[in-house]
Amino acid sequence: MLIDDHFNPRPTDIIVATSPKCGTTWLRALVFSIINRNSFDFNNHPLSKANPRDLVHFLEAHIRGDRSTVSIDGLLSPRLLSTHLPYSLFPKCMTDDASSACRFVYICRDPKDVLVSKWHFANKLRPKELPPLPLEEAFELFSNGVSHYGPFWDHVLGYWKASGEWPKKVLCLKYEDVKEPSGCVRKVAEFLGVPFSPEEEKKWIVEEIVKLCSFESLSNQDVNKSDTRSGENPMSNSDFFRKGEVGDWVNHLSPQMSEILDKITEQKFQGTGFSF
Ligand code: A3P
Repeated sequence: MLIDDHFNPRPTDIIVATSPKCGTTWLRALVFSIINRNSFDFNNHPLSKANPRDLVHFLEAHIRGDRSTVSIDGLLSPRLLSTHLPYSLFPKCMTDDASSACRFVYICRDPKDVLVSKWHFANKLRPKELPPLPLEEAFELFSNGVSHYGPFWDHVLGYWKASGEWPKKVLCLKYEDVKEPSGCVRKVAEFLGVPFSPEEEKKWIVEEIVKLCSFESLSNQDVNKSDTRSGENPMSNSDFFRKGEVGDWVNHLSPQMSEILDKITEQKFQGTGFSF
């Protein structure tokens, strides 16, 4: 309802969609640098001065009317926006392929790593008066589907099914592709209708983008080391960078927790063609 009331989709809109802690920061940076690759010098790039969340507007902040938010109505096309909303919550005019309104680039991640990342993040944001959230409690909530923006598995399935049905409208990526980022960058560029030309390949533009958006590069920018928080914005830029690794769950989850999550994943994704 909020989207209907406060958002006018354009056919050129590009929406970066994620369930929290699945690689939003990385994907925002990648898509921003892919579509703006002819506008900025890689040695003096906006990503070295601003956190990706300040360069890609957050749809939810706009539709709920956060005071600090720039109006997205006045942005030039193509607008690059970001969301955590599940696919099923978007109005038909945005998800129905026939209307061809906007495209979604989605990223998901192994739920075991998502849980660990969420747990660390939740403890960073937790009021100091409260004791830290125990991992066991975070595990119970997550495995029972209690997550921001809905159960993790349903979130993934919503976008995955849509990408199968409308491959020109929804592209699904996996965080684990961070291990092979150039393929991912080429895939996104092609999906968005701006593939890399042979000249760009010769100039190593794909590699420039991969380097610029890597965990090492972004987390070492001064702007992303900042841990300034305010009442209105309780998250600091540095909160979005922790380890950036695939498989860090082994350092936190018990074998029993990992088995339970794997079982839920197997059951939820059975027969869908999706796996991590
Ligand atoms: P970890 O907590 O496992 O380190 P989101 O951006 O959706 O909030 O997700 C945050 C997770 O992505 C964190 O994972 C964070 O470290 C990781 N991350 C942030 N920037 C990244 C980048 N450029 N490349 C890879 N991972 C990144």
